Amino acid sequence: MKLFVYHTPELTPTNEVPDCAIAVDVLRATSTIATVLAAGGEAVQVFSDLNKLMEVSEQWPSEKRLRAGERGGAKVAGFELGNSPLDCTPELVEGRRLFISTTNGTRALQRVQNSPAVLAGALINRDAIVQFLLEKQPATVWIVGSGWEGSFALEDTVCAGAIAHSLAEKSHITPDELAGNDELISAIALYSQWQDNLLGLLHHASHGKRLLRLDCHEDLKYCSQTDILDVLPMQHEIGVLKSKN
Ligand code: MLT
Repeated sequence: MKLFVYHTPELTPTNEVPDCAIAVDVLRATSTIATVLAAGGEAVQVFSDLNKLMEVSEQWPSEKRLRAGERGGAKVAGFELGNSPLDCTPELVEGRRLFISTTNGTRALQRVQNSPAVLAGALINRDAIVQFLLEKQPATVWIVGSGWEGSFALEDTVCAGAIAHSLAEKSHITPDELAGNDELISAIALYSQWQDNLLGLLHHASHGKRLLRLDCHEDLKYCSQTDILDVLPMQHEIGVLKSKN
C-alpha cells in the first residue's frame, strides 16, 4: 500500500484515480459528516452549489431531510443548520438525510468522487478509516485535505498524519515504505509533534482562529478528539455518503 497526501483539492492530480480516496476536512465538514452518520442519519449528500442543493432536496420528503449551508464558517441564511457537528444530535438527525454545502470540504469530496472507494475522514473517526485500510489493503490511497480556498490547512494535514502514523504502527510498516510522496512524511512529522495537544494545534490553524472568532470553541474541542466515533462514511453513489458500519 502507498499513501499520498494532497493538501488541497487543487493540488490533487486530475489524470488518474487512486484505489481509495479519503477526503479530510477536520474543521468541520468531514467531522460533521461522521457525526451525522454515527447519530443515525440516513445519508449525507454533498453539494458545492447552494441552489442545486435546494433544488435536489425539495424532491425529498420534508420530514426526512435536513439542510445545512456554510460559507466562511457561518450558517447560510435560510438553512436549518450551519456546519457544527454539535448540532447533529441523534434526536435531530436519526433517519434523515443531511443535504450539505460547505466552503471547502464538499469540494474535496467532489474532487475524488470518481475513485472506486471514497471515504470521509476526520480525527474523530480516524481508527475506523485505519481499520478499513488494514482490512482492504488498497494499493494506492490518497488523503485529500480540503484546505481553505486553495491554501494548506494544518488541521487536515495533521489528520492525514494521524491516519498514516496509526496505519504504520498497526501494520508494522515504516513511514518510508508507506510514503507515496513527501507530503506524507511531513504529515506524520506534524502529527508526531502535536499528537498530545491537537486542540493546541487547532488554535494555531487559520481556520481554527476564524471559528474561534465565530465563538465555535466547543467545535474545536470536539473536532480535536481522536477515535471517538466508530463510523466509516463511504460514498454510496456520487455525492451521497452512508455509514459502512
Ligand atoms: C469548509 O468546508 O470549508 C469547512 O467545513 C468550513 C466550516 O468550518 O464550516
